[in-house]
Order: sequence, then structure tokens, then C-alpha cells
Amino acid sequence: MTAALENLLEEGRRAVVRPLAEASTLPPAFYTSPEVFEREQEAIFRRNWVSVGHAAEIPKAGDRFRIDVAGEPLMIVRGKDGEVRALSAVCRHRWMLLGEGAESSGTISCPYHKWTYALDGSLMAAPLMEQAEGFDRAECALPSFACEVWNGFIFVNLSGDAAPLTGQLQPLAEEFTPWKMDEMEIVGRIEFDQAYNWKVLVDNFMEAYHHFAIHPETFEPNYPAAISFHDPAEGPYAVLRMPHKGNELSHPLFKPLDDIPERARRGFSVFNIYPSMLIAVLSDSVIWYRMEIAGVDRFKLTVYLLAHPASTDVPDAETLKHFLREATVAVHMEDLIACEGVQKGLHSGVAQAGRLSHLEGAIHAHQRWLIAELQRP
Ligand code: FES
Ligand SMILES: [Fe+2]
Repeated sequence: MTAALENLLEEGRRAVVRPLAEASTLPPAFYTSPEVFEREQEAIFRRNWVSVGHAAEIPKAGDRFRIDVAGEPLMIVRGKDGEVRALSAVCRHRWMLLGEGAESSGTISCPYHKWTYALDGSLMAAPLMEQAEGFDRAECALPSFACEVWNGFIFVNLSGDAAPLTGQLQPLAEEFTPWKMDEMEIVGRIEFDQAYNWKVLVDNFMEAYHHFAIHPETFEPNYPAAISFHDPAEGPYAVLRMPHKGNELSHPLFKPLDDIPERARRGFSVFNIYPSMLIAVLSDSVIWYRMEIAGVDRFKLTVYLLAHPASTDVPDAETLKHFLREATVAVHMEDLIACEGVQKGLHSGVAQAGRLSHLEGAIHAHQRWLIAELQRP
């Protein structure tokens, strides 16, 4: 690390280490500096578990999708044994990307010279290689990375010495049990190319302070900013609770499962499983914002709308799914006005770390975690 980066990290630590009532956000450079971005890639996204997909996307052997984590091209594949694996998506011949376009097949075939791999990454065939002396197919298997499926969500860890994810998220696992997220289906999937730093969206997602200003018609009437609160967490995640106005029952679109607790029927909660898994847990569905981070000021956002088949077993389910999709897009368009405005503001010559409201505890918690990870040797 350069001395300038070390100084900047220390400045950030001093801003966020104080209790919430005295704290500021991280300084603007944390959102704009390519050097901080590189450090994040290395210290956060290459070391921690990162959510990449949902098991419902690849239900059958041979199903796969491509995603980059910290610039590393990966292919998430379901094997013949039913296991989900995170394989390198880089061909062992001359580095062509694998898995682009092919959504399901019993093998993984490189489009460039047709080296063909099994679903576990072993190289099965390499045409016209018989004159390459000592060529050993066993040395050309695709590397694989640690991969865990937790509540149906697929996580990857690139570090090579990852502690299991499941233990760290135990308290959350208990809270999520009644939703049976591992049995959920994808009822909608919406993609957006975003031109701002990924943490701008995390901050936006994890506070309801802006409801009365940015969402005066969509959220504020039902989920007022003033009664939202940060619920301190016992693991590497942050929780924001948004009670329904007057603590009344909220109005689900679908049918909540029987075991959904009372509190979840009188409001909803959003979570950031660090570093960047943003999920809103409603009584009848889950909305997940998956970020594929491509640069300091850009990422691909995929919004997943998930619901249990027993919840969507209602008359007019297709109309309701359509409505959920439209409403999700409308809310995101409102948030986008804020996120794009913030991104421009961050580049101002006079921008500085901002003071936080008591309603922004989940941002504060995340930033304390971030700085600890960034400073960890
Ligand atoms: S690069 Fe894949 S077969 Fe040549
Ligand atoms: Fe919002």
C-alpha cells in the first residue's frame, strides 16, 4: 500500500470509528479513488464470500452462468452430482472465456479451439494436440474456487483459505428459516447498467431516511422514514427494519408462508450481507439486488424477485408478478435519481465526509466493517 492510501484509510477510520451520534461517512475518495477501488478488490472482494446467484437459476446438471468476481471470470455450474461449483471461466489453452452464451450442456466447450471440459472442470478432449510432447490433460483442469449455497443463494470465495460462510451467518439463518428461500423461484429478473460507485447503492438501500423525499408516494405513506431503525447484528451483516405505519399489517401481493412471524407481517426488513449482498425480505417475497462490480464507477445490477411456489399459488399470480416487477422498477428509478446525483456530487472539489442521522446506523456499521477489512494486512 502507498503511504497516501494508508493515510486515507486512517482518515476514514477516524471518521467512522466514533459512535453513530458523532460519526461521519467515509470521505468521498472512498467512492471515487481508483486506488481505494483496487484495495477493495484485493482486501474485500478477493477475501470475503461474495453472493453470485441463486440455485434456482441452475436447477439441472449442466446449467451454468458467467459472472466476474473482483475481475476474476467465473462460471457457476451445476455438476452431474448435483453440486454447484465455481470454476475458472478461462480456458487452459490460450485464455479464451468459457461459458458465454451456453446456458446448459453436458460439457463445457471452448469456442476458440474446442477444448472440452467436464462439468467438474476436468479436461476431456483437446483436438489436434497429439504432437505436443508431454501434453497431459490432467494438468489442464479448470481451477475451482470455494463455493457454498446458503438459503439457496450461491456464494463464492476466491481467497483459497476461506472460513465456512454458514457459521458466520448463523443468527441470520435462524431469522430466514420460515421463508424457505432455498425453495424459492425466480419470478422476475431485471438488469440495469449502473454508472456510480457500488457503495452509493449500498448506502441508499440501507437507510429509509430518504423515504419522505425520494419515495413520497411509493414508500413514505406505508413505511415512514421516521420509524425505521437499524437493528444491530451479531455477524458480518447489517439490518434495517421498516415497520408499517401504525404497526398495522402490511398488504402482501402473494400469500405469506404459514410460519412467517408477526413482525414480518407488520413491515419488512432489508439486509446487507457484507460486503454487498442487498436483500429486502418481505412477508411474501424476497427482492435481491446482485451487484457485479466492474469498476470504481460502474457495476451491473441484477434485481431478482424471488417467491416461494406456495406463496404464488394464488389467483392472478401472473398479473401480481408483473405488478411486482413494475413497482420494483419504479422504486429503483426513484433511487437512481439520488444515486446518480450523489455520484456527481462526490467528485466535487469541496465534497467532504458527511454527518449521519440516527436513521443511518446500518451505513455506519457497514463502513466500520469496510475500513477494518481495508486496513487488515
Ligand atoms: S483457447 Fe480454448 S481451446 Fe484454444
Ligand atoms: Fe430508496
